[in-house]
Amino acid sequence: MKRIWLLAIGCWLLAFGASAQTRDWENPAVLGINKLPCHATLQLPSKWKECKEIVSLDGQWLFHWSRNPEERPADFYKEDYDVSGWGEIAVPGNWQTQGYGTPIYININYPFVRNRPSVTTEPPNNWTAYENRNPVGSYVTFVDVTKEMLSKNLILHFGGVHSAMYLWINGQRVGYSQNSMSPAEFDVTKYMRAGKNKIAVEVYRWCDGSYLEDQDMWRLSGIFREVQLWVRPLVHIADYRVTAVPNADFSQAEVTAVISICNTGKKKATVCPVMMIDELSAGMAEVQVNAGDTTNYVFHYTLENPRLWSAEKPNLYPFSVELEDKKGNTIEHFDYHFGVKRVECVGEVFKINGKNVKLRGVNRHDHHPRTGRYVDDATYEQDLRLMKQANINFLRTSHYPDREYLYELCDRRGIYVMDEANQESHGYGYANHEMGEDPAWRDAHVDRAESLVKRDFNHPCVILWSLGNEGGVGPNIQAMYDTVVALDSTRLPFYDCHPRYSALHDFGYPTPDVLKVEAEKETEKPLIAREYAHAMGNSMGNFQEYWDVIYADSSIAGAAIWDWVDQGLVKKNNGIECWAYGGDFGDQPNDGNFNINGLVAPDRKPHPHYYEVQYVYQPITFKRDEHDGTIRIINRDSFTVPSEYDITCDTVTYGSERLLNVYARLKEDKPWAEKGFVVAREQFVLQPYEYPLLPAKKSNENAEVTINGNTLSSWIVDGREVLQGPLEPYFWKPENDNQRAAHFAERTAEWKEVKDVTVNYTIIDNHTILVEMDYQPTATDRPIIPKVGMRMRLPADYTHIRYYGRGPWENYPDRKHSAFLSEYEMPLSDYETEYIRPQDNGNRCDIRWFEISSAEQRLHIDGLQPLCIRAWDYGEEDLDAAPRHPQDIQRGDFVNLNIDLNIHGVGGVDTWGQRTLPQYTIDGNQPYHYAFILRLCRPR
Ligand code: GAL
Ligand code: MG
Repeated sequence: MKRIWLLAIGCWLLAFGASAQTRDWENPAVLGINKLPCHATLQLPSKWKECKEIVSLDGQWLFHWSRNPEERPADFYKEDYDVSGWGEIAVPGNWQTQGYGTPIYININYPFVRNRPSVTTEPPNNWTAYENRNPVGSYVTFVDVTKEMLSKNLILHFGGVHSAMYLWINGQRVGYSQNSMSPAEFDVTKYMRAGKNKIAVEVYRWCDGSYLEDQDMWRLSGIFREVQLWVRPLVHIADYRVTAVPNADFSQAEVTAVISICNTGKKKATVCPVMMIDELSAGMAEVQVNAGDTTNYVFHYTLENPRLWSAEKPNLYPFSVELEDKKGNTIEHFDYHFGVKRVECVGEVFKINGKNVKLRGVNRHDHHPRTGRYVDDATYEQDLRLMKQANINFLRTSHYPDREYLYELCDRRGIYVMDEANQESHGYGYANHEMGEDPAWRDAHVDRAESLVKRDFNHPCVILWSLGNEGGVGPNIQAMYDTVVALDSTRLPFYDCHPRYSALHDFGYPTPDVLKVEAEKETEKPLIAREYAHAMGNSMGNFQEYWDVIYADSSIAGAAIWDWVDQGLVKKNNGIECWAYGGDFGDQPNDGNFNINGLVAPDRKPHPHYYEVQYVYQPITFKRDEHDGTIRIINRDSFTVPSEYDITCDTVTYGSERLLNVYARLKEDKPWAEKGFVVAREQFVLQPYEYPLLPAKKSNENAEVTINGNTLSSWIVDGREVLQGPLEPYFWKPENDNQRAAHFAERTAEWKEVKDVTVNYTIIDNHTILVEMDYQPTATDRPIIPKVGMRMRLPADYTHIRYYGRGPWENYPDRKHSAFLSEYEMPLSDYETEYIRPQDNGNRCDIRWFEISSAEQRLHIDGLQPLCIRAWDYGEEDLDAAPRHPQDIQRGDFVNLNIDLNIHGVGGVDTWGQRTLPQYTIDGNQPYHYAFILRLCRPR
């Protein structure tokens, strides 16, 4: 006994020594030292501020940054260490977003040399990690403790620290922790004293745990979540877990609350746990707990006719758990809520509350452009509002547990959550054996599953526990799976790398056709695409096609878009803020703009494709019978009926065209939108547009125009040149991100020169020109055409646009369902879309007429058939030069106008090679003909 005890002390001292062999942070066997067991979030995050037990330590802390462990101020934790010269840092926050060290954006590879468990092996000398081998952040703050507080149990809580931390109080070592996205707690009672106390935290940028944190994101460090000092009664609730399981016909729910009561005092204690559900007493008991012990007490309560929880109807039962002393005085009190729901796979059908619910999903990284990995409450609320408004009902917390408040919002607003463990070892390969099988890494894996489930257990929004993303396969994953299943039978386990560890079969990034085929092939489990529709840059084509497949097959549970928010970080370039991506901070190695894949920009401004998601994900669709005009409503929801919406119709007429717009609107305010908000909509053409007929071809001899072959090189009206660049046939367009990855420019390079085209200009009068373009291929092996049409350049002051066509946001042939026909008016700057990495943008489809004007003149364009038009204040050459940011483009010298018959679709499968679906490409071996009329007029 004595020997073991001595040995343990020996290890402890060694663990804290500086000696290289015993670095805890390069030792997968040391996951924590002196850490308290993980447990459920005890108090609803929205009530943390009013919780009497919590003293927030968030704020400015003293800070010192060292580029490697050798240079760190090793003695800084000592009470007499002079920290007067130190800088300050905001806690919670990341170092790199506050000027300390370099953010690194890298996807699959590790930012350090892969040589586990070492994170300090010498890398090539151009890597960021060469000079900054393993930066260390040393933090100091002080906290005042009263005598009264000292008589209680004091627990220091860290919500998230990346990647590993040591803690000292008043110069005494307290402990160590890794597993950066889950809380770490330490009992600090015996280290504290009345008066001022010094808290010292040493944080390492990388540790062996980083081998399991190889997620595709900015690699940032620091104390990035809340720090709290909990002042707890000596006898307190250490944990509680509540389940609310409905019976077969949902007429009753069995509520079970397991409450762990812990006695940290020196005397045996008697306390009364009390549970109240919805103000009704659900149970009260008397429990004795020995000193130093933890006892579980279980409440059972049967709810009759429970209101079920779902994303559509997020019915919550508020409850409280309390401890009272024998006299009935409250010792402590927590508030939470539960939801009654059932999640199951019945054969190959995924069900929630007995219904084949479809998961209309999105993946989300916890990202803020100014504070990095720390996302404030207001941004969480904004994200949830925008998600609900986009009809998203499913969120995957890719690829780690987010901050607690997010889950409370999902409970309240109604979002199904796949909560994911902080486990990705992608640097060893997808479904690798190295990390999945190495027994030395087993506990590190299990720790991540356990901390996930134990913290978020009480959130009704959670429907799936994910074991991680792009990690290993083997016994270590099996152990994670076993842990999850043993801890919770009311939610399902999920894993992407092998269906053996998953209740649902995952297939990532299928095309719509492949999704259909895979779902038919898989007959045992429901299929889910945990990631699909890679929303990088100008993307999200063929989104409706996915949902045509998903709705047609009951074995497809749903799919989650990659991903929610562009992971741009604010950076000043020549005094102007831009959204930085990989490489912008000189970070090496990096993966460029591969983290810019959002439906919304870093500041949460929706991209044009956000609205396509909103439309395709709408819970109601409308179909109109061509013959009798009746409108049929198809309800995609499971717990809502269409009569819960106000359904309204408008008939609008534009010239000869008559349109019917149908809307389903909210009948009352919701926390995420106001009454009247349009949840679903459709547009029908009642009477089609009559395009102008070919005008009589009577060429006007007096017109001042110069035509050279196919090119209109000059057009003078009222003594002024209209053209700043010729009107000419032009088939080229710059790539977007999807096309770049699919080598579009290489495949279509020959279209930089137009071939086999004849253009006819008919001068109707000096203000009016008819343009007819004809393409007759003289070969049969032509590649697809980027766009069929013409281009011209106007003076730079043509900056105001009006048109009748699809809008108001940018749309392309494969992404135009959400863009209804109407008359729109906007400045040129709104007609363009500024992608974070500049690329082709701004198209509008099905344009009947289009006008662009300066203060003096207005160019009106009438299509003789629908047109596609793009307008920019820069040229194709400016995009082809591959600027990194919009700020790098020289603008305002002219207006570039493309007037097209058709344009290649944006694509919408992935950004690593998949091409635009064939139906949205332009065959180079077919003839094309189109025409439009140009008219120069006075401004309106
Ligand atoms: C997925 C991965 C994501 C992200 C995406 C590409 O395979 O799970 O984390 O890297 O590819 O943007
Ligand atoms: Mg990855």
